Amino acid sequence: MTPSSDSPDAPRADAVRVPGDKSIAHRVLMLAALARGRSRLHNVPTGLDVLSTQRVLRALGISIAADGDALVVEGRAGTFLAPAGPIDCGNSGTTIRLMSGLLATRPLTVTLDGDASLRRRPMRRVADPLAAFGARLTLSPGGTAPLTIAGNGSAAAVELVVAVPSAQVKSAMLLAGLGARGRTRLRGELATRDHTERLLRAFGVRCEYEGEALVVDGPAALHPIDFTVPGDISSAAFLLAAAAAVPGAQVAIDDVGLNPTRTAFLEVLRRFGAEVSVTQTDAGAEPRGRIVVRGAPLHAIAIDPWEVPGLIDELPLIGVLGAFADGTTRVRGAAELRIKESDRIETFAAAARALGVEVTTAPDGFSVRGPARLHAGTIETAGDHRIAMAFAVAGRAAGVPVALDDPDCVAVSFPGFASALEAVA
Ligand code: S3P
Repeated sequence: MTPSSDSPDAPRADAVRVPGDKSIAHRVLMLAALARGRSRLHNVPTGLDVLSTQRVLRALGISIAADGDALVVEGRAGTFLAPAGPIDCGNSGTTIRLMSGLLATRPLTVTLDGDASLRRRPMRRVADPLAAFGARLTLSPGGTAPLTIAGNGSAAAVELVVAVPSAQVKSAMLLAGLGARGRTRLRGELATRDHTERLLRAFGVRCEYEGEALVVDGPAALHPIDFTVPGDISSAAFLLAAAAAVPGAQVAIDDVGLNPTRTAFLEVLRRFGAEVSVTQTDAGAEPRGRIVVRGAPLHAIAIDPWEVPGLIDELPLIGVLGAFADGTTRVRGAAELRIKESDRIETFAAAARALGVEVTTAPDGFSVRGPARLHAGTIETAGDHRIAMAFAVAGRAAGVPVALDDPDCVAVSFPGFASALEAVA
């Protein structure tokens, strides 16, 4: 992080980039597979989660090949080949949940499985609503993977209530709707990231609100596209936080996704007291641009339950910033954190305490007392990439050595994270 008085909007040699957006990449790969013909996708991230989506699609007969810096996906117009056996979704909740939806209205039977962490995560939230399409979904007795989907190739459209504020659940239902005859209507918890809706429109499918209902028509014909995935703002968040926590420090990140359903963290940085400037350089299906953050003395903030869906992946990082802020930073209404790649309330609290930070937990959140005097320590990441990166940032910003028990777990979303953090901090 280099102090600087440059205008935040001027061209800059020191701006960094982050890997392509994981959420967008999963979806664009899946929709390209459903399209009729060849899509060219640029800046597809190489993190393991997105490779899991590629592995699943290939196992279903979709050709995905590198051509220069692009991935070329040969869409089969909604048809798939029966896989040879169970398909491994690795650590990726988005892969397993969205693919369950996509396959629910296709005439084949597929078993999706994952690593130990994914096998602990709840799948009834997708399996139950997808049954309305006439698909048969079988889970472990605990409601987890392995998950077998016997899709219904002659499904009719349905009206469904999205009961959980989860973009994965909403997206699973939209993808199922693509293969069902008629207009699928969703109501309920729809105010989550909207990448599926935007990308459906980019592939030529109408996906709009009719009053309070989000609707999609099936059977949908998708046309192939050329698309460049913007940088992942949830990966950028770690670098932005590393600058925000150090008064006078600065980082500039180019080509980051600025989808309004993903940018709430920037407002949070401002509330903490950091200086944030955003320049949109491209509108398009997924807007993108530059973000510059300057560090400042931080003061504590409170995150209210209604804000949680827009910040879901950044909450452990917000907890870390709380350790640098004057006062008590509180997060409430975030019980969903307990069913992420780890129980992110407990793994966050244990990791923060290991560095000398005072944390109290609640069933739906945590409180952090700051400013804390962090000391060196070793973090148990529970294999959770976002915990690992949040505490690497803590160590960097506090100037104390922080060891991670499993530094490699960051590879699911941000290969090269350690050197990216070095470069800005
Ligand atoms: C994601 C949605 C979020 C998020 C996850 C990616 C997506 O999960 O935590 O990292 O791509 O739809 P939920 O939708 O279950 O909250």
